[in-house]
Amino acid sequence: MNDLSTNYLGLQLKNPIVVGSSGLTDSVEKIIHLEAMGAGAVVLKSLFEEEIIMDMEETIYTMTNQHFVFPETMDYMETVVKEDILTDYLELITEAKKAVKIPVIASINCVSSQKWTYFAKEIEKAGADALELNLFFLPSDNRRGAREIADATLEIISKVKGSIRIPIALKISAFQSNLIGYVEQIDQAGVEGIVLFNRSWLPDIDINHLVVSSGFVLSNPSESGNTLRWVSMVSGRVNCDIAASTGVHDGPGLIKQLLAGAQVCQIVSTLYINDLSQILKMTNALSEWMTLHNFKSIGEFRGRLSQANSGNPAAWERVQFMKHFRDFV
Ligand SMILES: Cc1cc2nc3c(=O)[nH]c(=O)nc-3n(C[C@H](O)[C@H](O)[C@H](O)COP(=O)(O)O)c2cc1C
Repeated sequence: MNDLSTNYLGLQLKNPIVVGSSGLTDSVEKIIHLEAMGAGAVVLKSLFEEEIIMDMEETIYTMTNQHFVFPETMDYMETVVKEDILTDYLELITEAKKAVKIPVIASINCVSSQKWTYFAKEIEKAGADALELNLFFLPSDNRRGAREIADATLEIISKVKGSIRIPIALKISAFQSNLIGYVEQIDQAGVEGIVLFNRSWLPDIDINHLVVSSGFVLSNPSESGNTLRWVSMVSGRVNCDIAASTGVHDGPGLIKQLLAGAQVCQIVSTLYINDLSQILKMTNALSEWMTLHNFKSIGEFRGRLSQANSGNPAAWERVQFMKHFRDFV
């Protein structure tokens, strides 16, 4: 096996495969198994402030419907429920750090602005190697312009950066106007990494029962083209590291993202669809490809086909099929 080591967020990884935030990374046992199966690092399942709030509301609802509750009890409950979920998460970080050698990256998604810093501080104290800020939201509010969204993002980064020392990566959605400008601002705000992209839960319609249902939870490899385009266009324009996420399912998919300029690939769906042996298949494929092309390290070819280096920058920006595809059948 060639040297597949890479640096991500200032952390040394034995290979560029990071298991992304998901149900695959929500327990110490699973993380131990992922390390044994060859993962370079893991991002823990996100701690969702919204989930804490929902849990709290449910408990309070049950209590208030059963018997009279003193206001002090309600205050107490608010704190206890909130602390319970957070404590479990912090324990997961501490125990995972004791159990594995690979980097453990925590992940949070907050709704109220002050909680980003509170959770971040606690996570750093628990021993996480880095923190991924899961900033996914749908820009569906037509009263909220692009500037406002960017400003809110920059404020969160500034607050979190001001309160912790561990590296920070920002995981964003592809649905953003002026994406390159947005990423450049995020980079200038001093994050160590950017994750392109989170993939949303997708709604669907059940035509038999006439209700809204859940769409495909897992990605497919054709989705990697969008990730590849933006990784290649962002590469070279930012100082921070780039993690490619969405649609990377196999060895060729991994190699392409590295050629486009990614430091690492985060993978989730392929591990659900195949199994954890996919990690080794992907690193083996990378190593064999490096031998074939006489590359001794990833640094020798990373970013070689980014928009800036490919010699054909226009190809990355082409969106219309035009005459080349007129005869496509
Ligand atoms: C079952 C499942 C749970 C997920 N949970 C989270 C999460 O808690 N936080 C997060 O940032 N992303 C979460 N994701 C998104 C993944 O981390 C990843 O960004 C997305 O699935 C695209 O990568 P893929 O094409 O390799 O699946 C989840 C994805 C799946 C399929």
